[in-house]
Amino acid sequence: MREAGSDGPEALAGLAGSWAVPVGGEALFTWDYDQRSERLISLYAKGKQRQWDAETRLDWSHETDPGDPLGMPDELIWIADSELWDRLPEKERSVVRTHTAGWMYSQFLHGEQGALVCAAQVVRMVPDMDAKFYASTQVMDEARHVEAYDRYLREKIGVRYPITDSLQGLLDTIVRDARWDFTYLGMQVLLEGLALASFSIQRDLMTDPLAKAFNAYVLEDESRHVAFGQIALRQYYQDLTEAERREREEFAVEACHVLSERFAGEELWRNLDYGAEECIQLTRKSAALRVFRYRLFSRIVPALKSINLFGPRMQEGLDQLRLLRFSTMDQDEISAADEARAREIEQEELLRRSKQIESTIAAANGDAT
Ligand SMILES: [Fe+2]
Ligand SMILES: [Fe+2]
Repeated sequence: MREAGSDGPEALAGLAGSWAVPVGGEALFTWDYDQRSERLISLYAKGKQRQWDAETRLDWSHETDPGDPLGMPDELIWIADSELWDRLPEKERSVVRTHTAGWMYSQFLHGEQGALVCAAQVVRMVPDMDAKFYASTQVMDEARHVEAYDRYLREKIGVRYPITDSLQGLLDTIVRDARWDFTYLGMQVLLEGLALASFSIQRDLMTDPLAKAFNAYVLEDESRHVAFGQIALRQYYQDLTEAERREREEFAVEACHVLSERFAGEELWRNLDYGAEECIQLTRKSAALRVFRYRLFSRIVPALKSINLFGPRMQEGLDQLRLLRFSTMDQDEISAADEARAREIEQEELLRRSKQIESTIAAANGDAT
């Protein structure tokens, strides 16, 4: 397998070091310990009860295919529907599969770190104690996700990429803004929507059992995070002034534009040597990207509607991006299905692992006799 950096070290610069973003806003204390929102407290209870440990819940002994670490079907490879792909020898196709996995999981990892930082910021800025309680469970969730994606990249994929400019730009805007609702809107609605879409594709469409199970468990946590953002924003956005609404709607439409147009693996294709521009064009037109967009906006657009950020300007902006049709989808249904799917996959995994243990024991007994 080609090592990260062997064919484009410049594209992979930025893998070490740190990034400092000045943060604004106030740290809020409250002396009112009695105020409780039932929905937040039940979300907090769920957050506490459903913590899981990647170390023990996942079967890290499972061996992934080094040439295809996620079990990625061809129709999900961005350049697969092309003459370029037809011409590539199998060895190079393995490079594409592994680097695509490395690029994607690196962005998941960096995004999870962004979520970790933002969740901690919410604990600091949010006025009510029950919201601080809940957000602190999210801090732990995101730390577990960072831990797990980092381990997955290191042990199962072996190729890493720096954060993309578009993801870094979004994180910069969200973290820098001093207004708490921008942190919620940017992170809990928009970037969590990105996470839900990406992880659901991993869960449903990849064939490697470890990748499927891992993402199903992460996804279950992310559904709680999205619910939290919506509970807080729904109320707050009812009473915005016209100027405040305009600013938030413009931010959300611009973020939708970036999410829709700027996640085509540009850095990946510039690092690999197959003609970057052709690969980027193929990616933009690919069925795989259409699947991603569909899943992304079927989560984000109903969420924007449910938080009352859905005035004429927002609808017009979404319409121009051809995204308005997603507004009728039922997000409660989608998130209940996420929870159910995580349970199912857990049962399937337990069965698979116990069968594996049985066959190992049977083989050992066979050897002994
Ligand atoms: Fe996360
Ligand atoms: Fe999250």
